[in-house]
Amino acid sequence: MAIFITGGAGFIGSAFIRAWAKRYPTDTIINFDKLTYAGNLDNVAEAADHPGYQFRRGDICDAAALRAAIPDGCDAIVHFAAESHVDRSILSAREFILTNVLGTQTLLDVAREKGARRFLHISTDEVGGSIPDGHFFAEDSPLAPSSPYAASKAAAEHLARAAAHTFGLDAVIIRASNNYGPYQFPEKLIPLALTNALEDRPIPVYGDGQQVRDWIHVDDTCAALRAVLEKGQSGATYHIGGRSPLPNRALLTKLLDLLGKPTSLLTEVADRLGHDRRYAVDCSKIERELGWRPEIPLEEGLAQTIAWYREQATWVARARSGEYRQYYAQVYGAL
Ligand code: NAD
Ligand code: TYD
Repeated sequence: MAIFITGGAGFIGSAFIRAWAKRYPTDTIINFDKLTYAGNLDNVAEAADHPGYQFRRGDICDAAALRAAIPDGCDAIVHFAAESHVDRSILSAREFILTNVLGTQTLLDVAREKGARRFLHISTDEVGGSIPDGHFFAEDSPLAPSSPYAASKAAAEHLARAAAHTFGLDAVIIRASNNYGPYQFPEKLIPLALTNALEDRPIPVYGDGQQVRDWIHVDDTCAALRAVLEKGQSGATYHIGGRSPLPNRALLTKLLDLLGKPTSLLTEVADRLGHDRRYAVDCSKIERELGWRPEIPLEEGLAQTIAWYREQATWVARARSGEYRQYYAQVYGAL
């Protein structure tokens, strides 16, 4: 099987590649990534020995680069590449529209030209906007994105559905809740809090810290992606969550407890503009139809993640300093 992955040097994409390479040693795995600040080839170093693994540097907005990299009749395209951080989208939405919207459409067009058999689009629970207490966001609920990031991701999945409806592309969409685990760039809440706490530095809590997120371990996400790729219905959307909803302050308190650090590190700062209060996905459809369930309990996943970040001081230092980016600029040049 030949599988083409966009954004495979990022957090979830690299976990997917590491797991796929282990499971399917004879597959061709092409990792196509622009190597933005969030793309780090250290994340896929483990897969470099896999005989069928190839890395191609490129931008998903560049149709010619995609044409050159996607094999004819490729079995599957798994589309992770995106600008993914809400706070950055509030500072400037431009890159989000280029990559998440224009890039997704460009990839969909080339996927059709190349006769790709299946297109798995990775979306987010954030496209549903803030969900009132007692309610859940289901696959057929209306979309109501409220950050520029979520709006760009909503546009992207509409385009994937439109390609399925209009041209018969075999597209499947998965909407995931907040992921955590090893190799996550330390701008997202858990790795930021964890790496700050390890150095006894303050942890910024936006507003009152009562915003609720449902935390899922990235390995559970990768298992769901595999299930959807292999058994999901063409044109369908599936929700996945960790069944571990927690207000941010409670999550951070748990994390500090596991680290043996004081809660005095929690420091209330100004709230994020337009901050969504609660995300809550109903993930019963995938459980019912495909038999997938999250298997890693939050405490266990957090303990494993803490152990990884403790051991990977070099990865953290390189990610923070952006050292790997200077190297990529030398090897691959500017895009
Ligand atoms: P990430 O920011 O860690 O990685 C994104 C990757 O995409 C990087 O390797 C980056 O270099 C690459 N990229 C960015 N722009 C590109 C472009 N124009 N062309 C080619 N490559 C490009 O993101 P992540 O957390 O791994 O998220 C992966 C996907 O999952 C995204 O689509 C995101 O919206 C979605 N998602 C993430 C979460 C989460 O909690 N992290 C939850 C739900 C959905
Ligand atoms: P984040 O990891 O950015 O994910 P998302 O915005 O996609 O849910 O943030 C998770 C939650 O944590 C969100 O409610 C914002 C909050 N947060 C903080 O309180 N402090 C921080 O330093 C960060 C990065 C996030």
